[in-house]
Amino acid sequence: MIFELTEEHLAVQSAAREFAKNELLPGVIERDETQTFPAEQIKKMGELGFMGMMVDPKYNGGGMDTISYVLAMEEISKVDASASVAMSVNNSLVCWGLETYGTEEQKEKYLKRLATGEIIGAFCLSEPEAGSDATSQRTTAEDKGDHYLLNGTKNWITNGNSASVYLVIAHTHPEKGHKGINALIVEKGMEGFTVGKKENKLGIRGSDTHSLMFTDVKVPKENRIGDDGFGFTFAMKTLNGGRIGIASQALGIASGAYELALEYSKERKAFGKPISNHQGIQFKLADMATQIDAARLLCLKAAALKDAKKDYAKASAMAKLFASKVAMDVTVEAVQVHGGYGFVKEYHVERLMRDAKITQIYEGTSEIQKIVISRELLK
Ligand code: CAA
Repeated sequence: MIFELTEEHLAVQSAAREFAKNELLPGVIERDETQTFPAEQIKKMGELGFMGMMVDPKYNGGGMDTISYVLAMEEISKVDASASVAMSVNNSLVCWGLETYGTEEQKEKYLKRLATGEIIGAFCLSEPEAGSDATSQRTTAEDKGDHYLLNGTKNWITNGNSASVYLVIAHTHPEKGHKGINALIVEKGMEGFTVGKKENKLGIRGSDTHSLMFTDVKVPKENRIGDDGFGFTFAMKTLNGGRIGIASQALGIASGAYELALEYSKERKAFGKPISNHQGIQFKLADMATQIDAARLLCLKAAALKDAKKDYAKASAMAKLFASKVAMDVTVEAVQVHGGYGFVKEYHVERLMRDAKITQIYEGTSEIQKIVISRELLK
């Protein structure tokens, strides 16, 4: 086992770091305050290949591995977790889902534009009464021969208003339980599809999270992903990869906060010396760095298993469970190291602390990750 990144990996990491510093850092505090989606920045991320990193170049993707994706997600998330969640959903849920299970026509029509960031996508599973319990879908996709008639409401949808393409999970045969669920590609602008209210959130405030309403939306049959009834398995398999993205986001939030705390501790003086010379601060930094390294290794392990085409459901759930806890712990400590300055917006760590919390909730709460892990252990 060699713990070394290749030249290509280091180049991706460095490009993402530079982009985050030059393009995302300016204005990140204001975007958080005003809940402004980083639309321009996401466009540029697309041009640089960050929105379809793992997609085959024949569909306009970057053809990169999942390790590169983890490294880029960490760097972008250190600075702007609102931009990185849009990146994660587009890469791991929408592009990966379409590339792996879509038809050639669907890939031509949708994936090619999603992979360049010309348009972005959303993944629509959660409902007002189906969050963790994802099999309890109330949204229905009634089979009408050449099309489905879609009715229902989705909640907490990332990229809810900014997306052009939505992968919507809905029940066609409720009597068949999770085997009666389908995944449909819905386009913005289809009659009967409306974007509902924007959520006013604690963290990732630049990310546009909306509810969506579908009233008698006619979705052509050719927009179904996979066979009839494949929708729930589609969602679960896609989320396994999505969890690597969110684990890397959590890792980035933690390492961004740690780097700020490290720098601050060398500059800030108390009792006649930099606070980094006090053992109380040194112990905090040592704990933070150790937790972050462990989280990074779990993220990279899950990514390496995915790249090797091995089973990664347990590894991705472990990475997300652990990295999201590290993101919470480290950001709280980073605020503490900053003292009073940590409590004000200019120093960035309070935002990272608020952003960290969602990583323990979306793409499966920490409790859901434990269910996924323990089921794999007990198989
Ligand atoms: N990978 C592959 N298949 C899986 C799977 C996994 N991780 N978990 C379950 N499945 C399969 C099972 O094998 C089973 O298939 P078969 O019937 O063919 O054997 C089927 O799915 C049903 O599984 P269960 O009986 O275990 O289903 P369950 O009702 O007990 O619940 C669950 C399973 C793991 C709790 C699931 O409901 C779940 O993952 N819930 C969380 C949903 C979630 O993550 N939501 C996030 C929303 S998306 C989001 O947040 C994106 C964003 O905006 C950032």
